[in-house]
Amino acid sequence: MKGRNKGALVALSAVVVAVVVGVCAGLFFGHNTELKQSVIKPISAQEQENNEAWKANYPAQYASFEKTIENTENPSHFDSRPYMKLMYKGTGYAAEFNEPRGHAFMLDDIREIDEKRWAPKQAACNTCKSSQIPGLIEKYGDKYYSMDFHKINDQLENTVGCYNCHETDNPSELALRQPPFLEAMKAREIDVQDAGRQEKRTLVCAQCHVTYYFQPETNKVTFPWKEGLTPEEQIKYYDSINFTEWVHPDSGSPLIKPRHMEYEYFKNSTHESAGVSCADCHMPYMKVGNQKISSHNVGSPLDTMDQSCLTCHRESKDWLLGRVKSIQKQTKNMEDRAGAAVTETIKTLAVAKDLPGVDKDKVTRAQRLHREGQYYMDCVMVTNGFGFHNPQQSYADLAKGIDLCQEATKLAQQAILEAGGTLPDLSADAEEAGKNKEDK
Ligand code: HEC
Ligand code: HEC
Ligand code: HEC
Ligand code: HEC
Repeated sequence: MKGRNKGALVALSAVVVAVVVGVCAGLFFGHNTELKQSVIKPISAQEQENNEAWKANYPAQYASFEKTIENTENPSHFDSRPYMKLMYKGTGYAAEFNEPRGHAFMLDDIREIDEKRWAPKQAACNTCKSSQIPGLIEKYGDKYYSMDFHKINDQLENTVGCYNCHETDNPSELALRQPPFLEAMKAREIDVQDAGRQEKRTLVCAQCHVTYYFQPETNKVTFPWKEGLTPEEQIKYYDSINFTEWVHPDSGSPLIKPRHMEYEYFKNSTHESAGVSCADCHMPYMKVGNQKISSHNVGSPLDTMDQSCLTCHRESKDWLLGRVKSIQKQTKNMEDRAGAAVTETIKTLAVAKDLPGVDKDKVTRAQRLHREGQYYMDCVMVTNGFGFHNPQQSYADLAKGIDLCQEATKLAQQAILEAGGTLPDLSADAEEAGKNKEDK
């Protein structure tokens, strides 16, 4: 080959390489640049907690966030799980306990709920209900948690907001701001600022969609994560600090109460192990005009399966939906069996507990088994998604809960018979549980 031709070939190759690299880079980065918008107006520290201040810069995200007001359904948990009323007897949960609805409603809902729910724990109950909370905790310090409910609630105007999840100068950077979450991660020696982008797309939700308890005396919202995130490790933690949330008035058992453990169940699920984030399913990319944005209308991903699921799954939508429904149905069936098992435990312990001459040690052991068993099953019952986020662990925890409660019932029955008492009639409960199953 002549020198000049060689030179031309090298030049041509260089052009080809440049074009290929250019196209690839375009494919790779184009997706991201498409999402970028020019910032019109810097968001000031005085306004950062107010969604309205972000509206001019990010109208499409703002509009999609506002759509959460269309997600209005929040039926009572008691409609589908009547046994919860007995499980929670002695706490505010027995007065009123609803399924969640759109993010736009959180302030309305805490203001409308039966006062028994927040009265015992005061201001602390507002902690996951507003973008203004991180600022208020900074202002009042840990005193915030034990202040009067209204003293805090009356100051709240904004629900969860842009500020909860975004840096003010650049919203393509996610921010983590909820103090109880940051403290819990620090206690586990996890530096959340080091988390990669995909992980942050889950951690922003984990700021609130997790379980917690109120520390005795200070009322401080704290996550029981020191031993790990599973129900088993949480029980271990609660036992190690000798914590009891309330004593069940009928059974006398020292109980603990889990809350919406979406993050904890999602951890170590099939999807999490595959690198999927909460936002992948709940905040999928949507086209708005010629712009592509992350949907901020968080709700059921089953309403957006094309964008939420079929980006990864090759199966048909119907097949996939069938899988979800069958997981949820199996979870609910097991929940109903768990509800029947714990009902028997409570009714049997109610008789055993005060029986003259009863073996107190046996009763105490049965009450401890009830504590553990109810915790396992309650974790699944109160975690949103009806088992979908982690089917395997949900089934396993329900099975464990059923076993522990059956063991508690057996022990309490023994104690009753040994003391010459009469076993309670549980046939009405069995009938009730059976009826509930046929309803579905
Ligand atoms: C500041 C706390 C907070 C953060 C952060 C948060 N949520 Fe929520 N979320 C809530 C509360 C409180 C509710 C219940 C609102 C109600 O029922 O009034 C809720 C409700 C929901 C619902 C139920 C919606 C419906 O229509 O039934 C979904 C789904 C949800 N959140 C998903 C997410 C996802 C995904 C993230 C992260 C991208 C997230 N949330 C971040 C507090 C938060
Ligand atoms: C519960 C957390 C949460 C809240 C509240 C929230 N966002 Fe986002 N937002 C996200 C997540 C997650 C992404 C995706 C970021 C990523 O992939 O890096 C995102 C992305 C964005 C982006 C980047 C472009 C895009 O659409 O992906 C903008 C701009 C944005 N949000 C604006 C807002 C505005 C404005 C508000 C308030 C009205 C808001 N966000 C409220 C979690 C939130
Ligand atoms: C692989 C997809 C996927 C991922 C990842 C995922 N979810 Fe879900 N989520 C679902 C599905 C499906 C449902 C059930 C919706 C239904 O029954 O209508 C659901 C339900 C929920 C609900 C209840 C919604 C309602 O309408 O009652 C909440 C809250 C929630 N998820 C939060 C989260 C949080 C927080 C994360 C991350 C820790 C997460 N989800 C991760 C798919 C997902
Ligand atoms: C980012 C990719 C991704 C997204 C988005 C995603 N999945 Fe998956 N999903 C996976 C992977 C990977 C697996 C594990 C491998 C497999 O079983 O195919 C999986 C497994 C599953 C399974 C079987 C495992 C189990 O837990 O029983 C179901 C059912 C499922 N996904 C449903 C959904 C639904 C419904 C959605 C949307 C709401 C969704 N997925 C969104 C990647 C994804």
